[in-house]
Amino acid sequence: MWLITKLGWYRENRLSSLSRGGSFCVLSGTSGASVGQGTCPLVPEKDLERVICLKSEILRIREEALRELSELDRPEALQELKVKVLGKKGSLTAMLRQMGSLSPEERPIMGQVVNEVRSQLEQAWEKRSAELERIALEQRLATERIDITLPGIRVPRGHYHPLTQVIEEIEDIFLGMGFQIAEGPEIESDYYNFEALNLPKEHPAREMQDSFYITEEILLRTQTSPVQIRTMEKLHPQLPVKIIAPGKVYRNDDDATHSPMFHQVEGLVVDRGIRMSDLKGILLNFSREMFGESREIRLRPSFFPFTEPSAEVDVSCMLCGGSGCRLCKGTGWIEILGSGMVHPKVLEMGGYNPQEVTGFAFGMGVERIAMLKFGIEDMRLLFDNDLRFLQQF
Ligand code: DAH
Repeated sequence: MWLITKLGWYRENRLSSLSRGGSFCVLSGTSGASVGQGTCPLVPEKDLERVICLKSEILRIREEALRELSELDRPEALQELKVKVLGKKGSLTAMLRQMGSLSPEERPIMGQVVNEVRSQLEQAWEKRSAELERIALEQRLATERIDITLPGIRVPRGHYHPLTQVIEEIEDIFLGMGFQIAEGPEIESDYYNFEALNLPKEHPAREMQDSFYITEEILLRTQTSPVQIRTMEKLHPQLPVKIIAPGKVYRNDDDATHSPMFHQVEGLVVDRGIRMSDLKGILLNFSREMFGESREIRLRPSFFPFTEPSAEVDVSCMLCGGSGCRLCKGTGWIEILGSGMVHPKVLEMGGYNPQEVTGFAFGMGVERIAMLKFGIEDMRLLFDNDLRFLQQF
């Protein structure tokens, strides 16, 4: 009776009773089909018993699967367990095969029980799988945590070479006065380096610059002055021409104040009505911006084949202010560049009419300016690439 009562109750509440997981006895019979661990009777009058037995076996499978699931700690074991229970040869699937032995009336009920358990287990799997993933993630986060309080590895910071710093400063000053920056090749023709600058072959002034020739007509430029010609050729008849041309130049010289490779900055202004006072004003302004507000300049007569008249420009000593010291050798003045009014022949070579326009030009040595500015006594230090020296600037 208990069994009948139980089944009747079960029939009306079949699924909810299962989810409550009521415990059922495992029945056994001599001719029963083997299910999991238990054996359920096969004789027809034992239908009811068999149903209860199958159900109890299903619940046992469920309980065992849930227990194993909660004990699992590897995601791979999760899959193995799934195969063991829900797979083709799994224990729950085996229960479905038992359904054939049930009466047509009992079959759908048991089918539903199996399906219910299957979906319960699947949900439990999902949950456990998410849980394991979360645990794995937490473990990774804990073990792979980066300690941001550790000091970093300091990357040494470099800076520009003192010569580059000086070139950029010179450029900035002239850009501020409306000049543009021009460039020319370091491997130059004899024509641009000398001829077009009013220095014909055999001119004695060529001796002033001991040159590195590549062929008779090609050499390493000895000065940035050829950029004057190249710029005028390109720009004429446009006015004004107002450029500086920084770059490397080469001469066969090597001592404490000369290097075979050094840098110059050329300057050229061509326009109608340019006068020597314009040259003086521009260079005074440059000297003050470069060496300090209280600097004065003076122009001394000189000679360059490409300027007429020509002048050497001195700046009042930045160390003693003009009273005379070791740096200025007691004169109070320091020579910084050569300059002059552009020679009419040079204007012509550049494509301009010297009857209509005039111009001034200048050329300064960058190393000399850097040595004066930073108090460097030997030019060769600038090219030794010794960091102990370079780091001071
Ligand atoms: N090119 C000359 C030299 O290297 C420097 C120079 C002097 C450039 C006078 C000029 C200038 O443009 O007008 O010695």
